[in-house]
Parts: sequence; structure tokens; C-alpha cells
Amino acid sequence: MKNKYKEDFGIFDNNTIVYLDSGATTQKPRCVLDAMKMFYEKENANPYRAAYGLSVRATECYNTAREKVAKFIGAKNSCEIIFTKNATEALNLLAYSYGLDNLKKEDEVVISIMEHHSNLVPWQKVTKEKKAKLSYLYINDNYEISENEIENKITAKTKIVSILSVSNVLGTAVNLEKIIKKAHSVGAVVIVDASQSVAHQKLDVSRLDADFLVFSGHKMYGPLGIGVLYGKQDLLEKMSPFIMGGDMIEFVHEQETSFATLPNKFEAGTQNVGGAVGLSSAISYLEKIGFSKIEKVEKELLSYAVKKLSALSFIELYCPKEIEKMASVVSFNIKGVHPHDVASLLDLKGVCLRAGNHCAQPLMRFLDIDSTCRISFGIYNTKEDADALVDALKEIYQKFEKYIKDEK
Ligand code: ALA
Repeated sequence: MKNKYKEDFGIFDNNTIVYLDSGATTQKPRCVLDAMKMFYEKENANPYRAAYGLSVRATECYNTAREKVAKFIGAKNSCEIIFTKNATEALNLLAYSYGLDNLKKEDEVVISIMEHHSNLVPWQKVTKEKKAKLSYLYINDNYEISENEIENKITAKTKIVSILSVSNVLGTAVNLEKIIKKAHSVGAVVIVDASQSVAHQKLDVSRLDADFLVFSGHKMYGPLGIGVLYGKQDLLEKMSPFIMGGDMIEFVHEQETSFATLPNKFEAGTQNVGGAVGLSSAISYLEKIGFSKIEKVEKELLSYAVKKLSALSFIELYCPKEIEKMASVVSFNIKGVHPHDVASLLDLKGVCLRAGNHCAQPLMRFLDIDSTCRISFGIYNTKEDADALVDALKEIYQKFEKYIKDEK
């Protein structure tokens, strides 16, 4: 079946690759590349720093992109949007600026066992430094966080809950509403790592009532090197800056500095305007298709792929039983074959997927596995892509079958 969106992506021109690694980074549609080319050819200058027209234009491009992001995620004010390099940088900013300033001895930070290292290692560092405790929401046999777990782990001691929206390994979609409600009832702030959902489900920070939310542009059809930190204005205003340097200041004296207002306080150094322009174009692209369409297409595909993979007796799947509890990502293994071998053999057949621990080693340890193969979808994927994967997996299994059986 033809996929009309695939034509928007130059990388698929005369190329038969089956790209199943959008969870790592999506491909970029032509409109994003064109917008960036246009910026660099016609509008490039250092923003904020000069009075000449071209610099003013670059500043306008940057702030127009900021307004676009604010509207896209339902932020009340564009000053609540801070551009970062990626979600990782945004999470580090929060751990250092919010965490270090607000945590005290014996306070608790709650994260889940599914977190990417980006939303785990920074919290280890700051909780250790503040003598606070890092506590985990664990998953049940259905690879989800139960309501009991939320009730029991988020307590009066909890000051920060930092949680992913969708697991980059298991595809589990987390019950954010429940977590945020519980966290707020004990006076904790909530950080949402929306990296794996931003391209797949409509986000609305105001409806969610998330205190902070982060994502990377490159996982939502935008360029590499641009990310977003959303924060409620009153919280961001009280926070200390993270990276010091040019243009995040108000006045600098020999021994003291006062800082700029939002959003500049958190944007030191020359900013990635080209990246912001590309991100803004990626948002237009997503909005043109519409999230109801995106969700429908991707859910159908997910359901199809899970069904086909489940039918293979040699495959072990790591995902919730119900498709409604998942989004865009599926992990699996061929029993007895290392995922790196599977990924390399799939590559020979033009199928691209990620194999390894997916920057989630504590989750792997919790599941008592070493690594998985992971497929993740974008708007350009088709049922034929899932078929190609399944056919290739069958061939790979046939190659290994004898050895696996001999080992038993
Ligand atoms: N965080 C990205 C992934 O899960 C790189 O693949």
C-alpha cells in the first residue's frame, strides 16, 4: 500500500530502506530542510546581538519559532519555552537548577524504572549531593505502572516526580493524569519527558497541568540539536540559570551578575536559530497532517505489527497486552539470538532498527535481560514495512534455529 507521507521525505527517494528507528530520530521532511535552507540563505545572523536588519530578522525567526512551540503544546506564554540542545540538556537543566535549589536532606525524587538514562543519571547526581532519596515506580507483569504503585510511592516526602510519557523501550504509555494529580496532592512538582510521545500524541501542558515538560526536536521530524524545555512561568522565574555566558545576563560587574528575564536567562551563548526554524516547520508539518490522523495511522500499524510478531513462536515480546496502553514502540527478541546479531542481519536486508539496552540499563536489569531489538514507527511507515521485518526475522531464525535447538 502506498503511503502518501513517505513522499515528503527525500531520504526515501529511490531507496528501499525500511526505517524502523524513529524513536531514536525521525527522518526529516523536505519542508523542514527547505525552511532551514531558506533561513541560512536569506536570514542568517547572530540573534539578539546587533541592530542591523539581518540580526533583527534572525531574532524574529527565533521568537516566532518559540511562539509556535508555545501554541503547539498549549503553553500560556511563549516565555515559558526555553530552547535547549535536546531533551537531555533540558532534563539536566531541571535537575541542576530546580533540583539543587529545592531538594533538602531526606526529600524524595520519584522516577520510573523505565526512564532513559537522561532522566535518571542527573537525578542520581543531585539526590546524592543533597542527601535526598531517588525512588522508583516499578512496572508490573503487564509492563505498566499500577495505580497502587503510584499511590504508595508518591508520598509527603516526594518533592519532584520526573516521568516519561512513553517508554522508549517498552512502548508503555504512562498514566500521566493520575501521576500528576497524585504528585500535586502531596505538593510535588512534575516533570514530563515527552520525547517518545511528542510526534505521536497531542500534547497540552495546560490541560495536563505539567509543571515542566521536555522533548527533542529530532524525534518529531525536526533537525538534530534543538530541544525544548517548557516550564510554568512562576517556577522558571524562581530558578537559577544553568549555563552561564553571553546574553543570559542583565548586568555583569567584576564580582557580581544579575540575570536576564525569561526566556533568555536559560539561553546562554549563540542560539540555534536554524534548528528552531526547522522545528517550527516540523510542527507545521505535524499540524497539517493532524494528530487524529497520526494516531489513527500509527495505532493501526502498531496493532498490525504486534499481531504479526506475536504470531511468531520464536519471538519474545516486551509490551503491554493492550494496544491502547502503548504508543509507537515495540521491543522484542528472537529467543536465543543476541539482538546485535539480529540487527546486523536485518541491516543486510535494508531493515533499520535499534538493538541494545536503549540507554535504559536499570530497566534491562529489572527485566532480567541484557538487551532487546526495538522497532519504532513514524508517519512514513506502512504495513509493508512490518511485513518486511517479519519476513526477515523468519529468515534469520531459520539460520539460527539449529544452533538454538542444539544448545537446549
Ligand atoms: N533516546 C533515543 C532512543 O531511545 C536515542 O533511541
